[in-house]
Amino acid sequence: GGAAGAPVAQPAPVVIAHRGASAYAPENTLAAVDAAAGLGVEWVENDVQRTEDGELVVLHDTTLARTTDVERVFPGRSPWKVGDFTAAEIARLDAGSWFGPRWEGVRVPTLKEYLGAVERNRQKLLLEIKAPELYPGIEADILRVLGREGWLDRAHVEGGLVVQSFGAASLRAVHQRRADLTTGFLGAPAVADLPAYAAFADQINPAHAALTGDYVEAVHRLKGPHGKPLRVSTWTVDGTADAVRVAGLGVDGIITNRPDVVRDAVGGG
Ligand code: G3P
Ligand code: CA
Repeated sequence: GGAAGAPVAQPAPVVIAHRGASAYAPENTLAAVDAAAGLGVEWVENDVQRTEDGELVVLHDTTLARTTDVERVFPGRSPWKVGDFTAAEIARLDAGSWFGPRWEGVRVPTLKEYLGAVERNRQKLLLEIKAPELYPGIEADILRVLGREGWLDRAHVEGGLVVQSFGAASLRAVHQRRADLTTGFLGAPAVADLPAYAAFADQINPAHAALTGDYVEAVHRLKGPHGKPLRVSTWTVDGTADAVRVAGLGVDGIITNRPDVVRDAVGGG
């Protein structure tokens, strides 16, 4: 630390492309992974859910309505929950046209397909288990696919993969099955509760609006399950002023739909 008023040297935060570079390509698709790669962004974030027949797919909302043409293809299937459709049905959907005509034909990727794209681009993955309460046992399913696709080897586990969730029980289940994995809890638990989270989470990843420097410091003072200081990645930061603010709070990562804007604002990559 420096004297009062002197700048404190801290590394630029890691920039993480939220749902891929989702300001520039349809979110949670291979096109958004490639858009991030095209910007030279190493880390991508996604959201994983489970189909009716047990396949893992990458989609944010718990229904298919907003980001696909499901209402046109399957008009009688309201409210179009992900878990009420088979993988083959979801594979028929267009997950690009809602974003713009040039994206017509872009599909909802399976987790396996998504991992392949990230690997081909030599990128790293912040994998969110979305709404785990809807998909009992999804943690084991995710670990099975990660293992089958070669993502549980040392290189990936030590530097290329973080599993995060808003669900504490889900994250604890991941940690219990694979204690070597890096995990992140989404949210901002009270400072008094942080030590309990540090038993199974390496990161505390809060929304940016209410985030303070005191909170970031409180998180950093604790050590996670691997004996290292807890880290903080905050979301979803798309503007220059917000990026500069959270970087000044000392966050370790910034999750953004506009990774180029954030990188220009704070450096890092
Ligand atoms: O990575 C953090 C962020 O994705 C959490 O919120 O709703 O975009 O999944 P959400
Ligand atoms: Ca997410």
